[in-house]
Amino acid sequence: MSECINPADVPKVKLYTGEEIPCVGMGTFGSDRFTPDEVSAAVAGAIRCGYRMFDCAACYGNEDQIGRVFKDAFDEGIVERKDLYIMTKVWNDMHEHVEESCKKSIEDLQCGYIDLFYIHWPFPNYHAPHCSVDSRNPDSRPFSVDEFLRTYRQCEDLVEKGLIKSIGISNMTIPKLEAVLPLLKIKPAACEFELHPAFQQQELFDYLTGKGIQPVGYMPIGSPKRPERDICPEDVNDMEMPEMQAIAKAHGVHPALIALKWARQRGQIPIPFSIHERNYISNLKCMLEDPLTQEEMDTIATLDRNNRLVKGQVFLWEDAKDWHDLWDEEGVIVK
Ligand SMILES: NC(=O)c1ccc[n+]([C@@H]2O[C@H](COP(=O)([O-])OP(=O)(O)OC[C@H]3O[C@@H](n4cnc5c(N)ncnc54)[C@H](OP(=O)(O)O)[C@@H]3O)[C@@H](O)[C@H]2O)c1
Repeated sequence: MSECINPADVPKVKLYTGEEIPCVGMGTFGSDRFTPDEVSAAVAGAIRCGYRMFDCAACYGNEDQIGRVFKDAFDEGIVERKDLYIMTKVWNDMHEHVEESCKKSIEDLQCGYIDLFYIHWPFPNYHAPHCSVDSRNPDSRPFSVDEFLRTYRQCEDLVEKGLIKSIGISNMTIPKLEAVLPLLKIKPAACEFELHPAFQQQELFDYLTGKGIQPVGYMPIGSPKRPERDICPEDVNDMEMPEMQAIAKAHGVHPALIALKWARQRGQIPIPFSIHERNYISNLKCMLEDPLTQEEMDTIATLDRNNRLVKGQVFLWEDAKDWHDLWDEEGVIVK
């Protein structure tokens, strides 16, 4: 029997809603490298070793396989539904049909309701799976407050209908948040965005925490096996930064665990992915032991290289200059 961690021992993070959720979750994006069966087998193992939070998405193409795993765990009495914290996301091509997308995820995941339901990207720009980074969909368009609100209002309706408990946003920028937050009836509970030592997004992090919105950090290890299209020659490998390696050596662990400890101690919820039992168990266990010192935290704070890995080129509209336009880097929404 593999090593188990008592879920009660996993530290919790409190959302503004009052709900307390685990300080780490498991990612489920198999990318073009891992099959739905491999990912769902890892979810099955993760539940049994003590994970209670899972980051799913309709567009990952594996929710029905993961749902079977959830159902087995419920049927076998390993967990009850209320003990899991299930997050999923509406994909860009369903922004006008959010309820349909949510119901499909609930059906596929066999979970009755969603704990935290994200708008995966703040615009409806859609690209075909596995398309090249240069391809532009002629239907793609810049961010629109009205369009975003239409999608968000549908999420607010889902809260009222009891299909979801909380709303999340993802891949947002401060200018977009400034434009939409005052218009929302229900404040988002969390924002999911890219966070790892070489990409710390301190300003966005501070903005969100200042508003009581919980940061959830994706690619917390720097996603060494991300899709080929997201790998650029100039990218920094977080795991190979000498400071990360030195801290890892001092703790006698892989640098991946240092990135996760840093994430938790800084205040974001990391959602690391691995199909390998040894790795996903240590990703959970490292939250319970041997924290980083203040000096180590300070050292990692200096490692930001502004190295965005998910550039989002495939979502660009025809007149867009390049991927920087998606991220409002000058402090205004690029149109
Ligand atoms: N909202 C969004 O737009 C968005 C975008 C991207 C990702 N996400 C979410 O974030 C999750 C995490 O991102 P990610 O999967 O791209 O990247 P990640 O978690 O940063 O990196 C995953 C890779 O790290 C390695 N790893 C994991 N634990 C390890 C350990 N203890 N020691 C050594 N290596 C370890 C794994 O390698 P092995 O296979 O060798 O274990 C795996 O390939 C996704 O699964 C998804 O749920 C969301």
